[in-house]
Amino acid sequence: MNVEKGFVDAPVDSSLDLAAEIRKLKEEKNAVVLAHYYTVGAIQDLADFVGDSLALARIAEKLDNDIIVMCGVHFMGETVKILCPAKKVLVPDLNAGCSLADSCKPEDLRSFIEAHPGHTVVSYVNTSAAVKALTDIVVTSGNAMKVVSSLPADEKIIFGPDRNLGNYINSQTGREMLLWDGACHVHEQFSLEKILELKKQHPEAKVLVHPECPRQVRIVADKVGSTAVLLDYAVASDSREFIVATESGILHEMRKRCPEKAFIPAPPADSTCACNDCSYMKLNTLEKLYNTLLYEQPEVHVDEAIIDDARRPIVRMLEIS
Ligand code: 13P
Ligand code: SF4
Repeated sequence: MNVEKGFVDAPVDSSLDLAAEIRKLKEEKNAVVLAHYYTVGAIQDLADFVGDSLALARIAEKLDNDIIVMCGVHFMGETVKILCPAKKVLVPDLNAGCSLADSCKPEDLRSFIEAHPGHTVVSYVNTSAAVKALTDIVVTSGNAMKVVSSLPADEKIIFGPDRNLGNYINSQTGREMLLWDGACHVHEQFSLEKILELKKQHPEAKVLVHPECPRQVRIVADKVGSTAVLLDYAVASDSREFIVATESGILHEMRKRCPEKAFIPAPPADSTCACNDCSYMKLNTLEKLYNTLLYEQPEVHVDEAIIDDARRPIVRMLEIS
């Protein structure tokens, strides 16, 4: 089977009921589909579990299926493989990268660590397995505050790769973690001015912001949190309107869980682009998911030489959170 392009390059019969076929293949192959909230609605609707990166890592650990398909981005597939090395872990498209993970190459992080000895290395889950192998403890946006706060107050910390999340934790905990200078291209582009304009039109709306957004956007937030935290806040809130500054895929679950409430995507600075879509997440399509289940390709592999070192900081995170 040809996977040279990073996905199964085989034609899909357009007359097929893909949703039904995918359900059938899952059943036949004892496969489970995990999907991140940023994937398209059709994938979320077919998945066995939908969640943020913390929830998906927790679920993966407990699964007893033979095949796990991770509809998200590549580092999420790697995290599943690291936690479940004996399982066949598949992703619909290996090209689903992450600009944030790409902003931190292992060789550069190694030099940074050597230049700052005596620091504990805390890495966001949005990193490659090779970066995790250089890390003492992993965090997600859902538990970063809790994990960092669990470390002694005088512990010197290197935090990477997201400078915005790092800056947010520093501001909330009073720590002075040394920050890696990386960012997500989706969360960096929300415009404060446009959010304020929207607020004028919807004065009662609550502003929900992912901590990967820069400080000038976070300061107008009613709630800062991971995708799951923002979702829970919207469900529990008495408000009827929300301006959402994170990747647009989350709106699907928000609208499903709260059909009576209005969710308004925060606009990007350049309103001619669809920049609040993560183009990597959107590489997960129903056709690719179908072919992945049918041909059991492409598979995620993590280098045997680093898998144990990459697992240790993830397990440490799961134990704390
Ligand atoms: P969560 O940790 O909220 O799932 O976010 C992952 C991510 O990629 C954010 O851009
Ligand atoms: Fe990576 Fe940003 Fe996409 Fe999240 S939204 S997967 S951080 S590129």
